[in-house]
Amino acid sequence: MNIQSSQVTSSLTRKERFLKALHFQPVDRPPVWMMRQAGRYLPEYQAVKQEYTFQEMCRTPSVAADVSIQPLDILDIDAIITFNDILIPFDDMGFKVQYGDGGPSIEPRIRNEEEIRKVPRAKFDQTPPVYNTIQDIRKRVGEEVPILGFAGAPFTMATYLIEGHMSKTLRNIKEAVFGKTDALKALLDTITETVIDYLKVQIDAGADAVQIFDTWAGTLPRPEYCELAMPYQKQIVDAIQSQEIPVILYVKGSSPFLHEMKQTGAKVLSVDWITPLWEVEKMVGEDTVLQGNLDPTLLYASPEVVEEHVRTLLRNFDRPSGHIFNLGHGILPGTPVDSAKAVVKAIQEL
Ligand code: CP3
Repeated sequence: MNIQSSQVTSSLTRKERFLKALHFQPVDRPPVWMMRQAGRYLPEYQAVKQEYTFQEMCRTPSVAADVSIQPLDILDIDAIITFNDILIPFDDMGFKVQYGDGGPSIEPRIRNEEEIRKVPRAKFDQTPPVYNTIQDIRKRVGEEVPILGFAGAPFTMATYLIEGHMSKTLRNIKEAVFGKTDALKALLDTITETVIDYLKVQIDAGADAVQIFDTWAGTLPRPEYCELAMPYQKQIVDAIQSQEIPVILYVKGSSPFLHEMKQTGAKVLSVDWITPLWEVEKMVGEDTVLQGNLDPTLLYASPEVVEEHVRTLLRNFDRPSGHIFNLGHGILPGTPVDSAKAVVKAIQEL
């Protein structure tokens, strides 16, 4: 810590604010970052994307670091999430992931039980690029900015692998859920091992916390959620938090599963925008750090409207600590940058 920041006790560094909020120690205001804060809505991101494909951006550490840092300068957020994608480790499992206008696609397709069972775990013989990305970010921003690593949770990764692309009906994964459960469990085991390895690489590189994204687990009926999503999330939480690194667990469609999310032991629960945070708190207790909750479509509104909603949220969920401000899902394409800035400004002016 430099002399300046240790003398001015009222001005916390971003990392101090973030880590204190994680440990229920007093903070001046909640730390704020936004899922997909680096991405398509930013002209600066679009400029980089003119020169590289999305894959190249993720796999070229200096470029991924550039893009990761953009929101720090543009929005003045409190944490950097490493620029990468949850599907990237599939390349290390022998698949080919491509990102086109219709979203990602993964080849070859796996359909029958035998193919589902045969999926190999990733072997990170060589350090994956994400390691150097995180080290590069750290070099450039120093110790006072927290860096977040991330990975997909096993059910969500299995969904993309078995569907092969984004799908409205989720027909293939649901067929596996209801009819090929044992094969699916073998695949979930394989992915869980891969995710733990991949997160450990990011922690070794210097990530201060990691988030796991279970975007599709919220589409499961409760019994299947308890059998096919929650136990694998928990294995990851146990493996990572035993290394003293906090895990943030995100589920889209989280409201019916708050109790199960809490049971994973994740340090932070990241929830969508359906149930207000003060009601979430009633369900999970005051001892769980909460993240999220602002509807990402709100950011299509004017900065004034955005600021008003942020202030209302903070009035209604007025915790001295244990709150990380975020959206309920990622920033959407076409979001005005001024609205994203308005979120941060309203919190900073608290
Ligand atoms: O949050 C951040 O700023 C870090 C970067 C990040 C990306 N993807 C970059 C990205 C993170 C955390 C993710 C996570 C991710 N990726 C999830 C979980 C969260 C969620 O959104 O539900 C999922 C399901 C994916 C898979 C994925 N990647 C899809 C379905 C798509 C295409 C559609 C879409 O929603 O964007 C991507 C592409 C992707 N990942 C882009 C970015 C910036 C857009 C690429 C582009 O066109 O420039």
